[in-house]
Amino acid sequence: MKQIKENTSLLFVCLGNICRSPAAEGIMRHIVERRGLEDRIKIDSAGVSGWHEGELPDRRMRSHGADHGYDFSSRSRQFSRDDFKRFDHIVVMDDDNYSDITAMARNEDERSRVVMMTDFLRNHTGHTSVPDPYYGGDRGFELVIELLEDACEGLLEQVIKDLDIR
Ligand code: 4NP
Repeated sequence: MKQIKENTSLLFVCLGNICRSPAAEGIMRHIVERRGLEDRIKIDSAGVSGWHEGELPDRRMRSHGADHGYDFSSRSRQFSRDDFKRFDHIVVMDDDNYSDITAMARNEDERSRVVMMTDFLRNHTGHTSVPDPYYGGDRGFELVIELLEDACEGLLEQVIKDLDIR
């Protein structure tokens, strides 16, 4: 008989952990709580870099998030090799994140946990990355939220299948 997992865990990763991945964490938490699944799905985020260790998300990201009804308030931390043991799925935002994180994997099991956020897009299917908004303007932050909302829905649908939730 196929073994159904009770719980799962998702770690969102970007470069600084102050724009894209804390937004992904906040949006995913929001839709997971809306479905009452917070006890079964652990959610966190981290950065490839530790440049902003301990900081709240970028003020612009928080403000755009609040405009859409989200609260982005996690503290930045750097990804560590231990995260491969602590999370089932490590969801990265762009190709640089993918190569940096997979380069830290010690074996195929760890490498296979790393996936691209854009693989879960259902509407914005032309996008192959969630672009870094840090050096751009408002439109970049809005695009991040649009892409993350789309991909979070797709990712949650996949997780719900894996956990055999009806
Ligand atoms: P994030 O954006 O990777 O989406 O958090 C960035 C934040 C900070 C920097 C680069 C990207 N930085 O160069 O400090």
